[in-house]
Amino acid sequence: MVGRLRSLEDLNLSSVDRPVVFLRLDLNVPIKKGTIGDDTRIRAALPTIKWLLERNCRIVACSHLGRPKGVGFEAEFSMEPVAKRLAELLETKEVVLASDYLAPDLGKMIGDLKSNQIILLENLRFYKEEQGSDVEFAKKLARFANFYVNDAFGTSHRADASLFAVAEQFPLEKRCAGFLVKKEIDFLEGAFRNPSPPVTAVFGGAKVSDKIAVLNKFTQIANNIVIGGAMAYTFLKYLGKDVGASKVEEDKLDVVAEIMKNAEARKVKIYLPEDHMCGDKFEETVAAVASNGVDIPAGFMGLDIGPKTIATFSKVIEESKVVIWNGPMGVFEWEQFKNGTRQVAEALTRCKGVTVVGGGDSAAAMAKFKLESKVSHVSTGGGASMELLEGKELPGIKVIRN
Ligand code: 3PG
Repeated sequence: MVGRLRSLEDLNLSSVDRPVVFLRLDLNVPIKKGTIGDDTRIRAALPTIKWLLERNCRIVACSHLGRPKGVGFEAEFSMEPVAKRLAELLETKEVVLASDYLAPDLGKMIGDLKSNQIILLENLRFYKEEQGSDVEFAKKLARFANFYVNDAFGTSHRADASLFAVAEQFPLEKRCAGFLVKKEIDFLEGAFRNPSPPVTAVFGGAKVSDKIAVLNKFTQIANNIVIGGAMAYTFLKYLGKDVGASKVEEDKLDVVAEIMKNAEARKVKIYLPEDHMCGDKFEETVAAVASNGVDIPAGFMGLDIGPKTIATFSKVIEESKVVIWNGPMGVFEWEQFKNGTRQVAEALTRCKGVTVVGGGDSAAAMAKFKLESKVSHVSTGGGASMELLEGKELPGIKVIRN
C-alpha cells in the first residue's frame, strides 16, 4: 500500500519567516540556437511558483536541461533562455540565474532576495554528481532551504540527487509535491483505479521494445489495446501479414506472441492497422501511397495508418470511458503522414470519458494540432508517465509520500 502524496497545503510554511523553498522543476524544454521550441513545461511550473510567492516564500528553483557531459558549464545547455522565458511568463517577477550554486555566496543571494525575485540555478547536470545521486552534493544543494518541493514530474523516474537525495535532507513533513506533480499523479494513477469499462490503451511509436512492460500491464487493465505506428508492423509480421520494407523488430516476435497470448487469456481485444499509407523510402519528400488493405507490397514501408484503420480506431476511442494514448500512429512530423496521428488525437477529443495523453511524441502531436485543452490531461513526462503506468514507483514520487 503506497502512502498518500504529500501536497503543498501540508507544509507548515508559517513556521518560518520568509521560508526558503528548494523547488525541483522539469524545465527540460527543446531549445534550438537559444530559442525555446515549446514552453509547455515552463508554463506548467507557474501555479506552484505563484502559490509559493503569494505565501512570501523565497524560491530556489532548479532543473536539468538536456544531457550535458557533467564536467561544468556548456553554453548549449545553459538555463539562460529558460530563465528569460520564466521571467516573461511571471510578468512582474525577476528570475536571478545562479551560475555557481555550490559557492558560499548562494546564501548571500538568498538573503538578498527581494519579494519579486526568484532564484533559478544553472543546469544541475553541469555537475556529474547530480546523476550520480551524490549525497554530499545533495547536502550542499539543500543547505539553505527550509522546505523541499518536487514539481518535476517529467524527471521523477530518475533517482537523480535533486529528486531523491536532496529530498531526503528534509524531514518528511517538510517535503511535498507541487501542483503539477499532484495533477499528473491524480490523472495517471487515478484514471485506472477502478475505471469504468471500456478502458482503451492506444500505443504507437517506433518500437515494441520500448513498450513491452506497459503493453503487458494493460493486458491486465484495458478492454481494448489499439496499436499503430511502426511498432504495429512487428505485430502484423507475427500474424503472417506482408509488411514489405516496414520496420520490424524480428527479435521481439516472441514478445509479441506473449502479449497476444496474455490479451487473449484476459479477453482484451487488440486492434491493429487494417490498411496503411506507405512510402518506398524513409525520406521526408517521399510520396504517400495507400495500401488499400492490410498487406504492404514489397519495396514499400508503412509510415502511417490508412483510412479504414482510422475509422476503426476512432470508433473504439470515442466509445471508451477511459483512454490513455502514448505514441504516434505514423511519421506525424511529415505532412503526408500526419493524418493518422491527427485523427487519433481528434477522436480523443470527441470521447466523453477520461482522456489522458502520455508525454513525449504524443504530447508534441497534441501541441502541434492545438488540441491539448480538449482532452482531460496531457502529461509533461514521456518516460515518467510510461513508468508510472507500468506500475513502477517513481523515486522522486516515493520520497514525497507519507
Ligand atoms: C524528459 O524530457 O524525459 C525528462 O526531462 C528527463 O530527461 P532525461 O531523459 O534526460 O533524464
